[in-house]
Amino acid sequence: MYLTDEEKDMLESDNPAVRKAMKLLVKLGDIYGAEEMVEIASAQASGVSYKSIGDPGIMFLKEFADEGAQVSVPTFANPAGMDLNKWKDMHISEDFAEKQKQIIEAMKRMGITISSSCTPYLWSNLPTRNEHIAWAESSAVSFANSVIGARTNREGGPSALAASITGRTPKYGLHLDKNRVPTHVVEVDADLNSISDFGALGSWTGRKVEDGKPYFVGVDSAGTDKLKSLGAAMAASGAVALYFVEGITVDPMEVQGLERIKFTERDKKEEYRSLTESEDPDLVVFGCPHCSINEIENIAKKLEGKTLDKDLWVFTSKAVEAWSDRMGYTDIIEKAGGKVFSDTCNVVCPIEKMNYGKMGTNSGKAANYLPGFCKQKVMFADTDDLIDKVLK
Ligand code: F3S
Repeated sequence: MYLTDEEKDMLESDNPAVRKAMKLLVKLGDIYGAEEMVEIASAQASGVSYKSIGDPGIMFLKEFADEGAQVSVPTFANPAGMDLNKWKDMHISEDFAEKQKQIIEAMKRMGITISSSCTPYLWSNLPTRNEHIAWAESSAVSFANSVIGARTNREGGPSALAASITGRTPKYGLHLDKNRVPTHVVEVDADLNSISDFGALGSWTGRKVEDGKPYFVGVDSAGTDKLKSLGAAMAASGAVALYFVEGITVDPMEVQGLERIKFTERDKKEEYRSLTESEDPDLVVFGCPHCSINEIENIAKKLEGKTLDKDLWVFTSKAVEAWSDRMGYTDIIEKAGGKVFSDTCNVVCPIEKMNYGKMGTNSGKAANYLPGFCKQKVMFADTDDLIDKVLK
């Protein structure tokens, strides 16, 4: 692989963390046949939750920070395993909290912004079209590539961290024009009204196209919340990192001769059915991906003046939580008996240790992950239906 003088210097750097980071990226580039590196504008660090990385992860991060690892581009952290302030309200154990804090401290020492969210594009880190970035969380990767038109592969924790330190990533995969073309046309012949309808479409499509790049036709409208739901579900049931929606996202460069598949009303209903194992949730969760302020407003309006019979948790970023507090939405949700948490999410917090076994979600991604990662029986449904299920 061709390396600039600056990149060669990084391979020989006195700083062991820089040396290791560049070595890892060169190796990755060699594996994927990259001809050169590309400079990146930002990175997203994953592997933040203690549940995901455990003690070996803590040891690695501490050692890396001790060796002088410092990010050289804006780098935002993915969700942690708990709300960093309100973790006791989540029934998190002291031991877990202590370990989680060690991870956060090590990341802070490296200069990573402890945003602890999978939706950095909603409040701070908004890439530009064609900008090269190295992001790691699959729903954010999908949103950045597809809706914004930035360029990132689906990085793993170590490669995203190495990219954040060097400011480089190997130029292969979705950094190249030739790989940013659709593989399937998905004809949508179903009504898509809610966030969960888009989750159902995403879950169905991800299974069909696996790591392909679907081009959706027949979708009349879709805002940010629906697109983030669609992309998240496709990245969970399949490994889709780039998709196109006719007239809504960036246009595909070529659509001739592609395999065509059709999503019908019947497929939609079947997706809801197959993702639901229990219709009696003892906890309803919203915010996978993390809720926008609009989603929280809708939840608060639905809960205003009501009382919940079961638990209801809303997950979001710290920034959006602050707006929710200011607008009085958090207060409304809490008065009804619900909670608003930030910094973490329904999948990466240790929910399986919290005496819940049946969870309701409006997220196609969560509905795919909760049974395996969190040992939960899922009810996959629309926001309103889920709230109705757990009201007194
Ligand atoms: Fe985000 Fe966690 Fe869902 S990282 S996309 S809220 S599984």
